[in-house]
Amino acid sequence: MDAIRIRGGKKLSGTIHVSGAKNAALPILCATLLSDGESLLRNVPALRDIETTSALLRFLGRSVSSSPPTVKVDAGSQVRPEAPYELVKQMRASVMVLGPLLARFGRAKVSLPGGCQIGSRPVDQHLKGLEKLGATIKLERGYIIASAPRLRGDEVVFDMPTVTGTENLMMAAALAKGRTRLVNAAREPEIEELARVLNKMGASVTGAGTDVMEIEGRDELAPFDHAIVADRIEAGTYMVAAAAAGGDVLLENAPLEDMESTCAALKTMGVEIGREGTAARIRRTGPIKPIRLTTEPHPGFPTDMQAQLMVLATLAEGTSTIKETIFENRFMHVPELARMGADIEAEGNHAIVRGPSRLQGAQVMATDLRASASLVIAGLVAEGETEVLRVYHLDRGYEHMERKLAAVGADTERIKGTGG
Ligand code: EPU
Repeated sequence: MDAIRIRGGKKLSGTIHVSGAKNAALPILCATLLSDGESLLRNVPALRDIETTSALLRFLGRSVSSSPPTVKVDAGSQVRPEAPYELVKQMRASVMVLGPLLARFGRAKVSLPGGCQIGSRPVDQHLKGLEKLGATIKLERGYIIASAPRLRGDEVVFDMPTVTGTENLMMAAALAKGRTRLVNAAREPEIEELARVLNKMGASVTGAGTDVMEIEGRDELAPFDHAIVADRIEAGTYMVAAAAAGGDVLLENAPLEDMESTCAALKTMGVEIGREGTAARIRRTGPIKPIRLTTEPHPGFPTDMQAQLMVLATLAEGTSTIKETIFENRFMHVPELARMGADIEAEGNHAIVRGPSRLQGAQVMATDLRASASLVIAGLVAEGETEVLRVYHLDRGYEHMERKLAAVGADTERIKGTGG
């Protein structure tokens, strides 16, 4: 497996282009299953998770031609409605083929995604919602077996807002008979992006971005052509990198309108964020200040930015507190940051970060995408050399991170096959 080597201490200066959003592209790729004909996705990031989804669509019988940032999916009327364990275990988001397959082909067999490093992550809400639309669901030998001659619109009340659960139900409802109401729906910008695509396909989705959504199903949907929105988490990650390393970075194509809580947290910590057209300029001129932070569903502070913010908190003059409320085990970066000299006390879902620490380079690794990103940021500020092992995880969600950072002055390089 590859590693990223970082020699810390360089300020960042220059322009970084924000890629298309992974978590918007994944459900939209699954939405291609809802129609015949050729759909075109633009501004798709070159990521391992996109490759995994393309492989899954091919397994299902689709023809996918991928030359990022463009992906073409030719969706005929034949399908093998089965998502095998080999693919689902690589990426839990594969469960999002369940809703479209069931709605379009009347049956689906999808491997149950297991837990993952950040938590147990059940899919009970996806299944409960589909049952409410009339599906019969059985669990057999690790697989979800679902069938329904035709789904019928109904009211689905989620016990908690779930992003992929809401997306699965939106796609299923788009081909259901009649109107579906999703209550306590997730409000993330990626939900709004999927709603835009379903509307282009001919469904009528209203209320996306609020906690109650209505979807008027259609008998048939049309293929689409869509450019994916910019990635708010990638943008936030580079904001933190610029703030931690210091300097002056222009983030091109930053979706600031979707990043209010991230920007607010960074501003509280003393980071300057200025809008310049569709770009954002990030500067750190003074000391970093401590923060009290709690992760929440959108529009609250995103769990996907928690690890990165924690690195910044290690540099702050004072004590920060961070509470993770979305996933039960999302502090894997804490012991690794401690190995680099950070003073962090984590208990349950609370972390107390005492700054400022002088981080020192070390060999570190994480088994979660965002935790890996936080270790790269720590490497940018650490004295000496840091090697982040197992960048497999980073490659799932960040397009050429080491190249984007090197282009703004960081001393970062990929080391092939370190076996870490
Ligand atoms: N939950 C249930 N039952 C369900 C579904 C969710 O109990 O049926 C719980 C989860 O265990 C969790 C909470 O509800 O405690 C919220 O989880 P959610 O379902 O919203 O997460 P997800 O849809 O599996 C997406 C992103 C994650 C991101 C979370 C939270 C995609 C493909 N993944 O996951 O992204 O952290 O929402 O915002 O959209 C990442 O990109 O690094 C990543 C992990």
